[in-house]
Amino acid sequence: MTTVVNQPAAGGAAQQAAGLPRLLPAAPEDLRAHLARYGPAPYRNQSGALIADVEASGLTGRGGAAFPVHRKLAAVARAGVRQGRTVVVANGAESEPASRKDELLLQLAPNLVLDGLQLTAEAVGAAEAHLYLHYAPGPQILRALAERAARGLDRIAVTITQAPPRFLAGQETAVLNRLGGGPALPTFQPPRVSERGLGGAPTLVQNVETLAHLALIARYGPRWFRAVGTAAEPGSMLTTIYRPDGKAHVREAAIGTPVRTLLGDGAGVQAWLVGGYHGTWLPVPDAAGITLDNASLGQSGAAAGAGVLAALPSGRCGLTEAARVTRYLAAESAGQCGPCLNGLPRIAAAVAELAGSGHRRQTLDDLKRWSGLVEGRGACHHPDGTVRFVRSALVVFEPEIQRHARGHCSVGNHGATDRAPFLPLPPGMPTSEEDWT
Ligand SMILES: Cc1cc2nc3c(=O)[nH]c(=O)nc-3n(C[C@H](O)[C@H](O)[C@H](O)COP(=O)(O)O)c2cc1C
Ligand code: SF4
Repeated sequence: MTTVVNQPAAGGAAQQAAGLPRLLPAAPEDLRAHLARYGPAPYRNQSGALIADVEASGLTGRGGAAFPVHRKLAAVARAGVRQGRTVVVANGAESEPASRKDELLLQLAPNLVLDGLQLTAEAVGAAEAHLYLHYAPGPQILRALAERAARGLDRIAVTITQAPPRFLAGQETAVLNRLGGGPALPTFQPPRVSERGLGGAPTLVQNVETLAHLALIARYGPRWFRAVGTAAEPGSMLTTIYRPDGKAHVREAAIGTPVRTLLGDGAGVQAWLVGGYHGTWLPVPDAAGITLDNASLGQSGAAAGAGVLAALPSGRCGLTEAARVTRYLAAESAGQCGPCLNGLPRIAAAVAELAGSGHRRQTLDDLKRWSGLVEGRGACHHPDGTVRFVRSALVVFEPEIQRHARGHCSVGNHGATDRAPFLPLPPGMPTSEEDWT
């Protein structure tokens, strides 16, 4: 069960400019409530007209890479003029197992996402739109589409496709392969999907949260958007937060918010995981001063990613957590490229060995060497993200590695006080250290 931590005050989004949340209403909003709050989608009746506002807003993608949205819009619009056809895709795959924000956004504010999809379609001149979802479409999204169709609000039809529950299924080339009728596997680039995507057409793939922000920027403008966030990274972002209670809470936070405001002051916590399973472990309290923006996080080698933040409590073994997630990531590789086929299983086995009792002298050196060998060598960033997660675990849990080497564990005599898994993985994955054998 995912809870929303911050709920909106009464009043439309414009009145809430400086306040949050902007995106998440207290309860699922049907079309009538959505129109009462926001009015209809503000079409410009001119392809490309929205792009300047998006550029001025400084909106970046909320699917993980924080790429400037206006650059993708402009690239697809340009390529569309040359090729005569473009496609837009709302990416709601939410393939990161710890993330809950896109699912919740689609439940609570489906019309905001659909407005964003229609507005981007207009901006890039698209005649084809897709919504790609992790789950079978829920009642809120189906109702929203039906109500919009009945009112004739949408200019182009939206096709829904369900993603398989795999970590890579949300990567943009995997998305397009799936939409094209094939398996959701990444493929090599170039050309970029903005040049040659679905069916060869220039294609815009945006995360569903990105589209919801864009739908508000189209109404209230760049200045409104910049009323929260930092000058370099404006706006807010949805985060999925795991405090030591292990429950998922979704909270919309201004970019630049102190991470301790979201995760707590670090009492009873040994480490923070920032950016999800392609993210970075940070030691607490060393990281206590960081803020939720890539400028600050980058100084510690971290990034906000898709907004997954976790505070690992002191009573858990961080090494065991790292080993479980690394094994999951290795198992999730598509096995198409050498680094994933040969490197990730070895890396996962080595992290599992460190998490056990006593490891071979060679293991740490091997792990560091293999990490260097897989980096930057895959068709997609899966090996790089996995290595980032593992490297940071080796640093943050270094004292733990030494203890395990001697057959001990700091959170109990070779065993954490609480051996239940902390970080969520899909069902069917290993749940304890014993599962490694
Ligand atoms: C392994 C992997 C998994 C990804 N999964 C998702 C996902 O589930 N949802 C998503 O929006 N983006 C995901 N992305 C990022 C997409 O490739 C793409 O950059 C994004 O959908 C673009 O939207 P944005 O610019 O609005 O963030 C993933 C990337 C990688 C490398
Ligand atoms: S790098 Fe790995 S996950 Fe990415 S395409 Fe190649 S095999 Fe698949």
